[in-house]
Formats: sequence, structure tokens, C-alpha cells
Amino acid sequence: MKQHYVERDIGEILLSEEEIKARVAELGRQISRDYEGKEVVAVCILRGCFIFFSDLMRQISIPVAIEFMSVSSYGGGAQSSGSVKINYDMQNDIAGKHVLIVEDIIDSGNTLSHLTEMLRSRDPASIEICALLNKPDRRVVDVPVKYVGFDIPDEFVVGYGLDYNSLYRNYRNIGILKREVYEKE
Ligand code: IMP
Ligand code: MG
Repeated sequence: MKQHYVERDIGEILLSEEEIKARVAELGRQISRDYEGKEVVAVCILRGCFIFFSDLMRQISIPVAIEFMSVSSYGGGAQSSGSVKINYDMQNDIAGKHVLIVEDIIDSGNTLSHLTEMLRSRDPASIEICALLNKPDRRVVDVPVKYVGFDIPDEFVVGYGLDYNSLYRNYRNIGILKREVYEKE
């Protein structure tokens, strides 16, 4: 059987491992400064965020509680509307806590807008969003994102946790998939 390397399917590296690492360290420093003296809960939105989240948390120098959630937008596709479906909820109460939602990428903004609204009903002291990637051209709903790693063009990217059909999450850079990978399907 022919060897199949993840790299073979990547057309262009958009963000290298080194660039990501440097930016994640900056975000960690900024978050540590902004939340000093506050009771903060960082919420990892599974699954795309798992690598970014674990790197970011290790760049934060203040105490931080960690929670995990898995959500999906109802409807999916381009017209995802309604609310978010919670596949897995966090295990602790966030009332009175400063919540930082950590997400891999903000695209239309639907998922994060619904999630923020839903979490607000749990009475946290504050809610902010940290997204590694932001596609401003794709935004449908206006969501305030306090921390953004990188603004990127409207391209489908994979790696560093982000997937295509559940694959490529383990690719160490963030790259644009080759067209032939989609067209094969
Ligand atoms: P939205 O902001 O509600 O449109 O959806 C954001 C979600 O869409 C993210 O959490 C990703 O799961 C997925 N997504 C959007 N763009 C990309 C991409 O370029 N690569 C991988 N997943 C993406
Ligand atoms: Mg996701």
C-alpha cells in the first residue's frame, strides 16, 4: 500500500507552526493581564479547538478553571439558524464567573452568537470570546470577538485541530486543502 502523508493533501501553508506558536503566546500574555485577580473559566469548544486550547492554556500564567463543551449549529449549511444543539455540556456552574469561550474559527458567527446567548442565561460575571482564526468576509451575524489570533481569507483551512471530514486535525501547520481532495468526494 502506498504511503499517504497528510502533507500531500495540503496546497499551501497559510500559518506555520512557528507563527501560530508566537501568536498563541501573545494571546496568553494578553489574557493573563486582562483577567488578573478574576475568577476565570476557559471553555474549550470541542472538537476543533482542542490543540489551540491546550497550547493557549499553557501560556496563561494566572489560575484558570477549564471546561469543555461540544455544540453544533442546527440546520448546518450556509443557513444555520435557530439555536445551538449542545452535544456535551460543561460540568460546573459558571454563575458569577468570568467566562472565556475558546473557539478554533469564527466563520458565519452563528455558532458563537447562539452559544454566547445561551451561556449568558447562566448568569456569568462576563463572557468574552477568543478565536484562533477569524474569517471576516464570511460573517453573517455580528459577534464581538475580544481575542483573535489571525484574520484569514475566505478559504477552507485544516490542521492544528481543524478538520475536513474529521481528518487533518493532526496536521501541525494550518493549511489550505488541495482542490482535488474535495473533488474526489
Ligand atoms: P460558524 O461561525 O457558525 O459559521 O461556524 C464555525 C464552525 O465552522 C467552526 O467551529 C468550524 O467547525 C467550522 N469551520 C468554518 N470554517 C472552517 C474552515 O475553514 N476549516 C474547518 N472548519 C471550519
Ligand atoms: Mg468547530
